[in-house]
Amino acid sequence: MSEQREEDTVRYKIENNIAWVYFNRPDKRNCQSPKLNRQMMRVLTELEFRDDVGVLVLSGEGTAWSAGMDLKEYFRESEAEGFHAVRRSQREAYAWWERLRWYEKSTIAMVNGWCFGGAYGPLFACDLAFCSDDAQFGLSEVNWGILPGGGATKVAVDLMPLRAAMYHAMMGENLTGPQAAQYNLVNESVPADQLHARVKEVAEKLVQKNWKTLKYTKDSVRRVKEMTYDNAEDYLIRMQEGLNWADKSDGRHVAMKQFLDDKTFKPGLGHYDKTKTEK
Ligand code: COA
Repeated sequence: MSEQREEDTVRYKIENNIAWVYFNRPDKRNCQSPKLNRQMMRVLTELEFRDDVGVLVLSGEGTAWSAGMDLKEYFRESEAEGFHAVRRSQREAYAWWERLRWYEKSTIAMVNGWCFGGAYGPLFACDLAFCSDDAQFGLSEVNWGILPGGGATKVAVDLMPLRAAMYHAMMGENLTGPQAAQYNLVNESVPADQLHARVKEVAEKLVQKNWKTLKYTKDSVRRVKEMTYDNAEDYLIRMQEGLNWADKSDGRHVAMKQFLDDKTFKPGLGHYDKTKTEK
């Protein structure tokens, strides 16, 4: 077992309603150990419903975003302990990725370096993803005799064209940041020295929008992907009606007044002022 304390495997800070969360095992290229997976779940739980957190950014300390699962602590040591430990380790990892996929707040992956295999789970879980041009993405599993499990194969197939996903999984070659953007693994790739500023710019825009509307929007995008058109049409009606109830600020009526009566904003050109709640 590594010497690092479990609570130190993830660090975070909150600034202006943005939670900056970091994988914090730079010496191990932020690979995901059972300790890190447990701590990440604690951190996500702590941040999810805080009133001072509107957006969560997930990044990595040092040269890696995350080098996937920890071959020593996640694979070898769990296997040595027995079947129950293998399942426990899988559940700990998959649980926080799932929490992140359906997170209450908007989420952004800020991929600053290596991103391998098991890191595709949290990459996909984040609503948006930005990377530096010098980041590298790889399904390296084939290089060491396993298949891309833990959702990694599904992530590649869901995000990339099938031929590209097949090549990616079979060849074990890395993609650069711009190639990852070309194949839809991320929204954008930018020069490394601009990554933080670009993500901050996006996060600050999201923070100013209605957080409940964002939650219902992003969940809808993920859900309708699996639905027929008719099911999606019906589901979106129910989701809008759910949002009408969940949004205690009644944002849509406030926004309608600002557009139709006050003429202080145009929805086609930007967001309404949610600090003015008068209808
Ligand atoms: N599991 C366990 N340990 C890992 C790891 C992983 N996934 N990724 C990196 N490490 C460890 C290395 O063993 C090394 O430990 P040590 O200092 O005790 O020897 C340390 O992190 C630094 O790694 P190193 O290989 O020296 O760094 P690098 O910058 O030269 O190379 C990588 C970075 C990511 C290319 C390389 O570490 C690597 O190939 N990692 C495995 C990636 C992978 O296949 N992940 C998929 C798992 S599903």
